[in-house]
Amino acid sequence: MAKRTPIFAANWKMNKTLADLQPYTTRLDSRLDEVCDQVSTDFEVILFPPACFLETAARLVDDSEIQVGSQNSGPAPSGAFTGELPPRSLREMGIEWTLIGHSERRHVFKETDTLIAKRLQAALEGGLSAMLCVGELLEERKAGKTMTTIESQLKIVKEVVSSTKASHFALAYEPVWAIGTGENATPEQAQEVHAFIRKCLIKNGWSEGATVRILYGGSAKPDNSGALMGQPDIDGLLVGGASLEADTFAELVRNGLTSRLKS
Ligand code: PGA
Repeated sequence: MAKRTPIFAANWKMNKTLADLQPYTTRLDSRLDEVCDQVSTDFEVILFPPACFLETAARLVDDSEIQVGSQNSGPAPSGAFTGELPPRSLREMGIEWTLIGHSERRHVFKETDTLIAKRLQAALEGGLSAMLCVGELLEERKAGKTMTTIESQLKIVKEVVSSTKASHFALAYEPVWAIGTGENATPEQAQEVHAFIRKCLIKNGWSEGATVRILYGGSAKPDNSGALMGQPDIDGLLVGGASLEADTFAELVRNGLTSRLKS
């Protein structure tokens, strides 16, 4: 089975300023060097800053292992889509990743699965790697509908992600009730859904489900990243609040990797 190299992603959302960027990337780079010395294993780190900082961010991390991703990406290669980011131009700027279907896009901005599928397709065709976010609302969990919600959000994977693009694709399971609330899913709750996601993708005929990387997101912090990353189907963490300070984020990465190596 292909090795699922862990990914730790910092989603700044609409936070911080351009002036914060250089001190942050410099500090994170040096803290990650320490993590590499302490934990000898491969891992990837992606920074998702606001769109207006992307070009500067890509330039600042040029000599480091940090990759840069956009928090969303346009639904077509080009055209009359005011306010959208053209995928190929992102790639030209040195942007490697994009988030697609983040819960705030789905629930605050009402993006549908149809639009999300178009974004995913355009991103992959434009040469970006894409991380598709899925997750249930609190009322869906309470009504026992977690798995049906996830299953329906996953339908687009088989339709859009060809096997040649599968290595440029990852998923993030982010229960909506855990995002920004301080209340993370327990490692067992997250593991249950991650294992379900793999099973569901394979059942639907997308055999890469066994090897695709699936990150957990929702109130991940340094003191729970170890327990989360100790679960067999959790391959990384997508982090909002705890990614805003470089030291905190690096600590979260270190604890996560240490636990992953032990499990
Ligand atoms: P959080 O956000 O870590 O602040 O809960 C995660 C996300 O929305 O990606």
